[in-house]
Amino acid sequence: MAQQEWNSALYDQKHSFVYEYGQDLLSLLQPQPAELILDLGCGTGHLTAQIAQSGARVIGLDHSAQMLETARQQYPQLEFVQGDASAFSLPEACDAVFSNAVLHWVTRAAEAAACIAQALKPGGRFVAEFGGQGNVANIVEAVQAVMTSHTQAEVRHPWYYPSIGAYATLLEAQGLEVRQAFLFDRFTKLEGADGMRNWLTMFAESMFADLPVEAKETALTEIEARLRPTNFRAGVWYADYRRLRVVAVRVK
Ligand code: BEZ
Repeated sequence: MAQQEWNSALYDQKHSFVYEYGQDLLSLLQPQPAELILDLGCGTGHLTAQIAQSGARVIGLDHSAQMLETARQQYPQLEFVQGDASAFSLPEACDAVFSNAVLHWVTRAAEAAACIAQALKPGGRFVAEFGGQGNVANIVEAVQAVMTSHTQAEVRHPWYYPSIGAYATLLEAQGLEVRQAFLFDRFTKLEGADGMRNWLTMFAESMFADLPVEAKETALTEIEARLRPTNFRAGVWYADYRRLRVVAVRVK
């Protein structure tokens, strides 16, 4: 699977809902002054900056050099480091690891859970939200059907969408005790008449990798047509998001 490339400008302009919904997750984190908090998969740094406003010391970690460049330009006073969510370590143990809308990209989920547990002090908390089992099921089904008709091959989606049970088991294996877990639907508005097309181009690029440019345009139009009955309401496109939200504490 090719590495997902991020366009930080498009992400900020058209997908601001990603960090806007993250505000809700911040109220679960409740950052405290002088705590050390890791924002895992910080993207362009908006939530990192909000965590810092609490008086906590915060480190933003992201894999994408482009996202980090934008984050550093916007928040030069904050600390950002480049790293892989499934292979990172920090020089100091944290009071909390926070992660919004990122861990569905991390298919080496057991390795990520091990890094998260290691990054926490005993008693430290992990507060995360990402796509859970059934996330964007309509979109995945439409892309797969259209891609199969173009390539006669089955295309797999690149994401990790665990159930509560699967993810809790994985965290427990790393000494993290799950205190809260929710799986809930959040039909999410996409901006503009090209909202679904932009979402697919931004996030599902790897599923079209085998198509020439013109065939890709045709495929996108066909996918939109398949999704119109379920994901287009009163002139607005929606992504059929289903979120997994977890709060866990390091007990070992
Ligand atoms: C999500 O936030 O659920 C998501 C975002 C991009 C791609 C797949 C899922």
